[in-house]
Amino acid sequence: MFPGNGVQRNATGFRSVFSCLVGVSEMSAQSAARCIKPRDSKETALSMGSSWNVVFHSGRQVCINFMKMAEQTLEDGLIFYVNGKKIMEKNPDPETMLLPYLRKKLRLTGTKYGCGGGGCGACTVMVSRYDPQNKNISHFSVNACLLPICQLHGGAVTTVEGIGSTKTKLHPAQRIAKAHGSQCGFCTPGMVMSMYTLLRNNPKPTLEEVTEGLAGNLCRCTGYRPIVDGYRTFCEREKCCQINGTACCMANENGSVGPVVNGQLELFNKDGLLPLDPTQDLIFPPELMRLAESQERISQKFIGERMTWISPGSLDELLQLKADHPQAPIVMGNTNIGLDIKFKGIFHPVLLSPTRVHELFKVTQKPEGVCVGAGCSMSVVKSVLEKSIGSFPPENTHMFRALLQQINLLGGQQIRNVATLGGNIASAYPNSDLTPVLAAGRCTLVALSKEGRRRVPIDKDFFLGFAKTAVKPNEIILSVFIPASRKDEVVHAFRHAPRKENALATVNAGMRVWFNENSSVVKDISIYYGGVGTTIVSAEGVCKQIIGRPWEDATLSDGYGALMDDVTLMASAPGGKVDFRRSLTLSLLFKFNLLVLQYLQEKNVFLKEIPKGLQSTIQPLPKHIQPGYQEFQNVLETQLAQDPVGRPMVHRSALSQATGEAVYCDDLPHIDGELFLAIVTSSRAHAKIIRIDFSEALKLPGVVDVVIADDIPGKKCRNIVGFNEELLAKSEVTCVGQMVCAVVADSEAHAKRGAALVKITYEDLQDCIFTLEEAIEKQSFFLPKWKIGRGDVEKALEDAEQVYEGEIRIGGQEHFYLETQSFLVVPVGEEQEMKVYLSTQHPTFTQVAIAETLGIPSNRVSCHVKRVGGAFGGKVTKTSILASITAVAAWKTGRPVRCVLERGEDMLITGGRNPVWGKYKVGFMKNGRITAADFQYYVNAGNTADESVLVAEKILLHLDNAYNIPNLRGQSAACRTNLPSNTAFRGFGVPQCMLVIENMITDVAHKLGRRPEEIREINMYKELSLTHYKMKFDPENLVRCWEECKEKADIHRRRQAIDIFNKENQYKKKGIAIVPIKYGIGFSMSFLNQAAALVHIYNDGSVLVSHGGIEMGQGLHTKVQQVASRELNIPTSLIHISETSTECVPNTCPSAASFGTDANGMAVQDACQILYKRLEPIRKKNPNGTWQNWIMTAFLEKISLSTTGYYRGQDLYMDWEKQEGKPYAYFTYGVCCSEVELDCLTGEYRTLRTDMVVDIGRSINPSIDIGQIEGSFIQGLGLFTMEELKFSPSGMLYTRGPGQYKIPSFCDVPLKFNVYLLAGSSNPLAIYSSKGIGEPCLFLGSSVFFAIKEAVAAARKDAGLTGPFTLNSPATPERTCLACATRFTNMVLQSKAGSTSGSAQPWALDI
Ligand SMILES: Cc1cc2nc3c(=O)[nH]c(=O)nc-3n(C[C@H](O)[C@H](O)[C@H](O)COP(=O)(O)OP(=O)(O)OC[C@H]3O[C@@H](n4cnc5c(N)ncnc54)[C@H](O)[C@@H]3O)c2cc1C
Ligand code: FES
Ligand code: FES
Repeated sequence: MFPGNGVQRNATGFRSVFSCLVGVSEMSAQSAARCIKPRDSKETALSMGSSWNVVFHSGRQVCINFMKMAEQTLEDGLIFYVNGKKIMEKNPDPETMLLPYLRKKLRLTGTKYGCGGGGCGACTVMVSRYDPQNKNISHFSVNACLLPICQLHGGAVTTVEGIGSTKTKLHPAQRIAKAHGSQCGFCTPGMVMSMYTLLRNNPKPTLEEVTEGLAGNLCRCTGYRPIVDGYRTFCEREKCCQINGTACCMANENGSVGPVVNGQLELFNKDGLLPLDPTQDLIFPPELMRLAESQERISQKFIGERMTWISPGSLDELLQLKADHPQAPIVMGNTNIGLDIKFKGIFHPVLLSPTRVHELFKVTQKPEGVCVGAGCSMSVVKSVLEKSIGSFPPENTHMFRALLQQINLLGGQQIRNVATLGGNIASAYPNSDLTPVLAAGRCTLVALSKEGRRRVPIDKDFFLGFAKTAVKPNEIILSVFIPASRKDEVVHAFRHAPRKENALATVNAGMRVWFNENSSVVKDISIYYGGVGTTIVSAEGVCKQIIGRPWEDATLSDGYGALMDDVTLMASAPGGKVDFRRSLTLSLLFKFNLLVLQYLQEKNVFLKEIPKGLQSTIQPLPKHIQPGYQEFQNVLETQLAQDPVGRPMVHRSALSQATGEAVYCDDLPHIDGELFLAIVTSSRAHAKIIRIDFSEALKLPGVVDVVIADDIPGKKCRNIVGFNEELLAKSEVTCVGQMVCAVVADSEAHAKRGAALVKITYEDLQDCIFTLEEAIEKQSFFLPKWKIGRGDVEKALEDAEQVYEGEIRIGGQEHFYLETQSFLVVPVGEEQEMKVYLSTQHPTFTQVAIAETLGIPSNRVSCHVKRVGGAFGGKVTKTSILASITAVAAWKTGRPVRCVLERGEDMLITGGRNPVWGKYKVGFMKNGRITAADFQYYVNAGNTADESVLVAEKILLHLDNAYNIPNLRGQSAACRTNLPSNTAFRGFGVPQCMLVIENMITDVAHKLGRRPEEIREINMYKELSLTHYKMKFDPENLVRCWEECKEKADIHRRRQAIDIFNKENQYKKKGIAIVPIKYGIGFSMSFLNQAAALVHIYNDGSVLVSHGGIEMGQGLHTKVQQVASRELNIPTSLIHISETSTECVPNTCPSAASFGTDANGMAVQDACQILYKRLEPIRKKNPNGTWQNWIMTAFLEKISLSTTGYYRGQDLYMDWEKQEGKPYAYFTYGVCCSEVELDCLTGEYRTLRTDMVVDIGRSINPSIDIGQIEGSFIQGLGLFTMEELKFSPSGMLYTRGPGQYKIPSFCDVPLKFNVYLLAGSSNPLAIYSSKGIGEPCLFLGSSVFFAIKEAVAAARKDAGLTGPFTLNSPATPERTCLACATRFTNMVLQSKAGSTSGSAQPWALDI
């Protein structure tokens, strides 16, 4: 059990001003902010009888009211509300963000930490403010991790706990739970709060508004489809997207919106959903209204431990402060300065927060354009632009539209709600989305200081370099003037980013051209690019080429040439992607050219038609998500209504997860005397440690101790499958990120500051190995290397009609579980006992690790796991090491120690999926039959073996995938390199090796000029067969999946349509691919296939089930509950599963290998059957008795109501000597077909449709199984098309957060996503005839990769290139675009030698 997990909600201490969200406009309050009227009777009454008329108001008036408020509350310090409770803080620390304040101080742990940098949305809360002028209350979603509490004065915060609970009433926004949109649940409160805020502002949003509102929230489990479907239910039918033509997008394929489709139940019943009820919402606190009405403008000052926060009350005061503290930054949205302080360790003694200076929020509209206060948030600017577009003549709105287009894609909604226009300009990001457009669009700003005001053009002379502008240190940006476009002037904006939404642009641009009246002759032109230098770049050469000339092909051709000189990037340019970025600049100019031609044509100035094949080039990719179709089999009519097996039962914790009540490791309350542990890692890839000096750290207030290797009382290494891994490096480090020591302190902040002060002196060793080529050359392997084969490969290659050699590289993947690694180790204080609360997939492994590390028996260590916020293989081995270090700290200090990794630390330290290099030689016949294949796989293990040798083994066991190749050979090796050690990841090497064989098949198809699916079909296992390791199996269901998928996806008809599309369109191409999977379930190490359970029946009839499996979102506890319900013949409501603990069930096996339900379900079944049998005499005696009667009778008759259950598992094995075995219990089959549309000029793609047919036997719970199928598919889509780890040339991981590492988001869900569970399948080898499903479908994400490859092949064909070509994984926009070989990529590659100075070291390693 968790210690003291009661939630205490003390509402003490707070205060501050939070008005960066306040948009104040002289134009319109409506346009200036998402202000809404108090909408219910209570709120209206509380708004002091104000009328509902929209009142335009001035910033001045608002500020006057703030002045009054400050006077009244100055002595109280910071005042704000959280969930209706008043918070007063006299001395808030300016460094405290709202997230830790909520979690640690207020014990409101529903709001989660996922990244700390605004990139994941897990910390989303709603902030409301009252505007006394308009009597309006505005509601905004914000990221609590980036919101300083000092900004909150006068605001009301609503967290997930404040909207609904399982104890009272759920809020309709929490219906995500019922729609199966919550798996591990760690992202769920954030999703709920984004949706809640949207509904507060707009109770009937369109689907587009829903996905826009959620775009700032990431989920790693669900694949997003169920979240979209759950929230789609709020959309008004008449507002549907009409994407199906006449049909409503909210209807399913047969047009029905009800719970029954094709005679089958839908996954969730939309009829029973709670409607929105405004009376359920917390009212805005009347006290804050009164305060706002009576504010005075008096400055506030908060002095923290290191920083001072000053919030001036007037513009004059701000200018004086700027004169006094020229280096002090202005904190507005804190989305830049906050990241600098947090992640770059930048320290500012003074921070200025002018959020009450009304002049910064003023918006004025003139006939020449709009003047926007620099303090306006992006959301406000968006509203202003929308309003302006509506009020200016259309021909004058080009600039407004261009800017609006960029703002719509800037960050997520939470970022747009706080990030300010002035902050964006002053930050001078090289890839700001706004600055190229502002510069191209002739915008100016007003810079103000004590010395006066000056109007400054935002142009090339304004941006002086990285994060440097012409604004002087003593100046502020007051406002920005956005001119209306003039007659005959066209402005466009472009951006290309690694993900379609919520991602900083790779390259963006603003382009403007002004023509002579009724002519195509250019009077003026200006073109700016972002993302191609340290600051934005003006393409002056292009402009010189074009100005004064007619807009036509010859002019533009000269422009492209000039652009090659305007934009030059060294090979070592930060951000890499040099050729791609240069090619993007050309492509974007080309798109501008087409848009301008279209404009001239519409004006009848240019009379030639734009070629038909180019028209789609300027069309955006489709984006409307349609309802998916989930087909599953209904239970038999004869099944008892109470029996839940086979029904789509909601995840048993989903409601708690949606209300924030679900407890994760770091939600456990602080224990008296608790310390926090911060890890110190190596900054060198390979070096001797000369000295570890932590004397400065120990001097820091709050720091209690430092733990080094010598402090470990027991084993200093962890043995992982036969390989030792040091817990803490002592004399040598072998990768950047290796753990060296740990600092323990009384708070997280102190521990982190202490860790930053530890000085490690190194002596570099010069023999670093990073790439697989280097490892092979230096024979750097973890042994054994593996080898397997059948038939005579050499001879078959000789006899083959054609032989082809190819290769593919598959990049690594970060687990990106939303809950980072978390531990709380509590020394009991007697007999060496340790209680360990943690987030792991394998508590026994950690228990043993800690016992060995401390040199104590295992019976003194108990590990407890309530739930895990996502794991995917990443919470086994590395977790045990981190837990052991935390345990050493607890042992040494005798105090409870908590360790929660930051996202960046987690990504750096814990490794991920192994990158693999696959090479092959294939022999085949002209008819497509593959007769021989010889594979080699090199696995990048990193600096320690971890489980990589087993990954290399599993690769060889799956190298055939679904194909019967008579002569087959494979060799694999785990390579030792100086990169952070990799570990298990969903699929355990299988997705990598299957990509290799599927790529090989695609190559064969391209060699033969045939469709890849034809080659797949010709070579697929079809009859009772033997694998290459001689395991017998029947592929009947594989073939059925294949046939059904082809039919459901209508692949032949769609192929023809795609061929026509590709012929008709030059730079937009479509591709379709269908891919099968045959995935072995279970552990080849036989002993891991066992499981045990403990079931207690209490006298009141309630049942407590414990088993060895871990609930990490995959629904294991729910399925186990269903098993117990069926076996005991009682409703699930009587069955509880509290946690997984080594105290209840010893010697557990990992929850992995898709085997959790198979093993633990069987063990629980065993225990329940034993108990039910014990009750038999009583049941027979009293057949009409109730369960409760029987249990009480059993107790009175002294029948034991508790027992263990056990599942021995099959005796699986693999004999590598004989090269034969039965390493898997059975196979799960599936087939997936995906279609994409690709923009060849940018490499951006969209998955138009995905159809999957999956054989999972008889599903125990279709909603959970389909959740696993969809979630793993999307994770695979991420692996194969977007997730890219980047390392510096010295081996340092660059990609350490959601800002740099892009996992799929809402925008990546296939627009039509259909899942069909194969009917009529059964599996006698697993519980209730089901099949394991956690991992297999991840590989099916590769259907998107191969569809992209087909689209690229179509583009290459236009360029005269046919036959096989290399496209490595992930097929990022960079790789895809360059592979398309368009005219622009060719221009770049041809000029490459001259402009990228070939000898410079690239920015990132190609591992
Ligand atoms: C998760 C995330 C996603 C993002 N995505 C995008 C994106 O897609 N596109 C994009 O363009 N940007 C993006 N950004 C960047 C964001 O737009 C900027 O950080 C933001 O606009 C800065 O505004 P702010 O109010 O938060 O500035 P702050 O962080 O408060 O301040 C930043 C700097 O600006 C200075 N400053 C602020 N206001 C003034 C003023 N009035 N006068 C003088 N100096 C001032 C401060 O002194 C400070 O140095 C993203 C940021 C995050 C965190
Ligand atoms: S934790 Fe705040 S956005 Fe990720
Ligand atoms: S349910 Fe979304 S991250 Fe797990």
